[in-house]
Amino acid sequence: MNSSSSENPIRLLVDANISGPIINKNVYGQFAEHLGRLLYDGMWVGPESPIPNTRGWRNDVLAALQELRVPVVRWPGGVFADEYRWRDGIGPREERPVRVNTLWGGVEESNAVGTHEYFDLVELLGAEAYVNCNMGTGSPREMTEWLEYMTSPSNSDLAQMRRKNGRDEPYRLHHFGIGNETWGAGGFMSPQYYCDRYKHWSTMARVPWDVPTNFVASGGHGEGDKDVTRWTEYLTTHIEPNFLLKCDAVSFHFYTHPKGSVWEGKGSATGFPETEWISTLQATLKMDDYLAANTAILKRNDPDNHVAFYVDEWGTWYDVEEGTNPGFLQQQNSLRDALVAALNFNIFHKYAERVQMTNIAQMVNVLQAMILTEGDRMLLTPTYHAFNMYVPFHGATTLALELSDVPRFELGECSIPTVSATAARGLDGKIYLALVNSDPGQAATVSAAMSGIDVTGVTGQMLTADAMDAHNTFDAPDTIAPRPWSASAESGVLQLEIPAKSVIVVHVH
Ligand code: AHR
Repeated sequence: MNSSSSENPIRLLVDANISGPIINKNVYGQFAEHLGRLLYDGMWVGPESPIPNTRGWRNDVLAALQELRVPVVRWPGGVFADEYRWRDGIGPREERPVRVNTLWGGVEESNAVGTHEYFDLVELLGAEAYVNCNMGTGSPREMTEWLEYMTSPSNSDLAQMRRKNGRDEPYRLHHFGIGNETWGAGGFMSPQYYCDRYKHWSTMARVPWDVPTNFVASGGHGEGDKDVTRWTEYLTTHIEPNFLLKCDAVSFHFYTHPKGSVWEGKGSATGFPETEWISTLQATLKMDDYLAANTAILKRNDPDNHVAFYVDEWGTWYDVEEGTNPGFLQQQNSLRDALVAALNFNIFHKYAERVQMTNIAQMVNVLQAMILTEGDRMLLTPTYHAFNMYVPFHGATTLALELSDVPRFELGECSIPTVSATAARGLDGKIYLALVNSDPGQAATVSAAMSGIDVTGVTGQMLTADAMDAHNTFDAPDTIAPRPWSASAESGVLQLEIPAKSVIVVHVH
């Protein structure tokens, strides 16, 4: 079957009586590294800037991120974490040392954004803090002192230093990562070597007994590494957490490239051919296989579900925009990225029991960003809109769903299912349904039935555009934005016409 029609519809069955695991709100997390124009320019302009700001954080960007209800922000890297000295980023800003960001463009790092500024940001956003420490060039001593500085309620020297720098109460540190991509830029370590180091470091890490912090071991990745479970397997068979040796999550990274694991000539963010539409979506769907394989290992090695899986870097990675610093990883963001985001959300929901956090790379002006800025101007990307449409899924309870008779979209050697779907009961009690049609040329007809509720219709939003690479620019910031969308049921069955290349999120009534 090549396409669906009213005679041959795709069948969707949602059973409102069968609840699955809760979707942790942190599945919609973000990543903010000291990289390019993400923090400096994109978010941080400093308190003296003519751009309206709150203690240095630009107000337009803050307001847009507050609307997204960003649940958690990972900081300060990424690979940058491995050269970060936390003491550089405290005390009067004008006295902070300037360093060189050797990894990202060789530019000067002013250290204007440090520990206090980061926590101010997460508090302004109402988000959880996820700090990654420096295992690459740091020491366990440096790590323990940073932890004490951030979290100690005592009168210790370091806690008093924090107070002197303007913060009386300890900061609430929800998640703490030890190591980043230790299989690669984090030191090209073997799982054995990293695992021993992790055990040493996490045993030395101290936080107040009564304020839990989740400790995160740096795990494997989904490209170029044939055995994508090797790190999860090793770490979860060799770390037996106890009250001293802490391990609450294992992380995983996976970036989507249009041409597979090709780093030279990855493909452009816009102006791409249909072959790269499908190859990108096909590549991103590998996330499903990676999560299936890794969560199966976790289920076997940790049946009581003590250790979560954090996909703490994911998203599209294209060639940089012409004329920009190659180290700044600046790329446009199109309708294709919105579909990549939505397809991944649907996958994350499927593994909600174990996947307790993900962090898209990255928040502003870098890789698959929510927001792009230029001077005092800002625009919301299609990825932002996808995140915003899925807000009702934060903390929602997944519902049993069956999708059948789904045609595939095929081109050259690529083949992907045209439609992907997810359903959940939101915290407001309503049932939400999200559908993605990955076919760039044809609408899909979905015949949807719901067990356990009387359906009269669905109402929500739809995101699409005429062009596959539709995107927003500073001169035309609303070229692509969600539009209201609804459908009504006949005898309890919904006949949904899902436009080509679209994302739909609706609530059922
Ligand atoms: O997100 C950019 C970089 O990608 C991160 O710093 C690193 O962890 C990954 O390789």
